[in-house]
Amino acid sequence: MDQGNLSDIQDFYKEKCVLLTGATGFLGKLILEKLLRSTEVQKIYLLVRRNRKDDPEKRVEKLLECPIFDGIKRISSECLSKIIVVHGDMSLIDLGLEEKILKNIVKEVNCVFHTAVAAKVNQTIVDASLTNIRGTGELLNIARSMKKLKSFVLVSTAYSNCVKEEIDEKIYDLDVDVEEFITSIESDGVKGLEKYKSLTEKWPSSFTFTMALAENLIKNESGKLPVAIVRCSSIIATNLGPIRGYIDSCHGPTGVVIGVGLGILRVFYGDDDKVGDIVTADYVINNAIAAGWAVNEYKDYDKFEKLYLKDKVPVFNCVSSPNNPITWKTFGEIMDKYGKESPSSKLMWYPYKIVTSCLYNYLLLKFLLHTIPAFILDIVLLCVGKRGRISGFYDQMEGYTGNIQYFMNNSWVFNDSNNKELIKGMTRKDRELFNFDHSDIDWESYLEYYMKGIRVYILKDEMNTVKQGQKKLQTFKYLHYSLITLGCVILYLFARFFLKMFLGIFFNV
Ligand SMILES: NC(=O)c1ccc[n+]([C@@H]2O[C@H](COP(=O)([O-])OP(=O)(O)OC[C@H]3O[C@@H](n4cnc5c(N)ncnc54)[C@H](OP(=O)(O)O)[C@@H]3O)[C@@H](O)[C@H]2O)c1
Repeated sequence: MDQGNLSDIQDFYKEKCVLLTGATGFLGKLILEKLLRSTEVQKIYLLVRRNRKDDPEKRVEKLLECPIFDGIKRISSECLSKIIVVHGDMSLIDLGLEEKILKNIVKEVNCVFHTAVAAKVNQTIVDASLTNIRGTGELLNIARSMKKLKSFVLVSTAYSNCVKEEIDEKIYDLDVDVEEFITSIESDGVKGLEKYKSLTEKWPSSFTFTMALAENLIKNESGKLPVAIVRCSSIIATNLGPIRGYIDSCHGPTGVVIGVGLGILRVFYGDDDKVGDIVTADYVINNAIAAGWAVNEYKDYDKFEKLYLKDKVPVFNCVSSPNNPITWKTFGEIMDKYGKESPSSKLMWYPYKIVTSCLYNYLLLKFLLHTIPAFILDIVLLCVGKRGRISGFYDQMEGYTGNIQYFMNNSWVFNDSNNKELIKGMTRKDRELFNFDHSDIDWESYLEYYMKGIRVYILKDEMNTVKQGQKKLQTFKYLHYSLITLGCVILYLFARFFLKMFLGIFFNV
């Protein structure tokens, strides 16, 4: 870092105390790394819950082993001492924080980044509501007591309002009292949701619906707090840093890319011609960091045209489609190309995919290409004394891909004027340090790194196994086309047999 010559954004974060939620998640860990690497924050509180195996301290210790931290460890490992782990849970009252810790946080914190979210595939709407809506409310309550608060950034989803076709940078009012909704869930659980059924049914997932309500809660309850919302579309690998192509999350299109790339997913329900809004993880976190700085700049009214200041809570749509659109078809073609150039050694069959936007075609093809082969393989496994599990595996994969199908069958018109305004208001140095302008991305070369990132960081398959992968690809290709030829021959023989029978019965030939 250029010590004597800090940029505006670096200057803003200098000596600041940050509270970050969701640090064990994909985006959270990237925000943590970026703040440590590119700013001189004084301290970062990480709110982490324990999991089945480890307590929060152990989890953060493991988190810091992630390769994205290798760079800062090489340059100055002392900066890791700025991290303070606090035990907390977003689904609990007061976030489950100990009183003493809570007092320290209230006294010291200047900037809040809220990225913790309940967005698992099998998440119930009750759990998602308690974490995403009530948890955001609890965090906001705590922020209200922070005397030195300068910024509060909620990272939300660009699809929180996916029930609309055009999505502006504003919080849309929902016809529901958020407080009443939460009270209903608290007292009656799933039963409490019944009266909201006509509303909840409109959203494709509990995640998108609860984020819409969390945004409404922020709008109603943030008062004069310096709060901003950064809404992002489908987040995939990093573009520029800390490592090009880093990804460790299977959300969104990544689950599909993995399924197809390994030769498991063969048919997909989606519309190839639709524009797929994808954003890179490092640009999203840069956007959040810049929004935190901007929301504190309220005082400095001359600096920007202040488009986003017309609303009490500025919203920034972090999307790519308005400036650099890419269709799912182009995305798929590029991924196919790089998938076949450096196939994984974990390949399970020759990768091919059929994309259809006709539901009946999809169901029929799914039966033929997923259900039947999985059933046959399960029987083979059973015969050799192993418990069949391929069908279960397909069900699991369906969970991942089912979530994205809605988004691959629809497209939205996003407005990102606030974000453009935000970029315009940044200095050249800040634009370089905290770049989030998706119009400068060359998708072809970026997606090559995305593919490699999936291979190395998700599949844990280093690039030195490419040759093995290529051998497997050749073998499976041979088997795949042999099977298709065999299938065609059998079909032909069947057709000939039935035709002969038909002619024999009706025409006595
Ligand atoms: N990834 C995407 O494609 C995408 C798209 C649109 C918007 N977003 C937004 O980006 C943000 C982060 O997403 P992500 O991809 O980083 O998600 P992620 O990888 O699933 O991480 C979620 C984080 O939230 C934490 N969390 C969940 N429930 C919690 C609880 N009850 N208490 C404390 N922590 C809890 C998780 O902790 P554990 O490790 O303990 O589970 C994890 O650290 C979210 O705000 C989301 O709205 C993401």
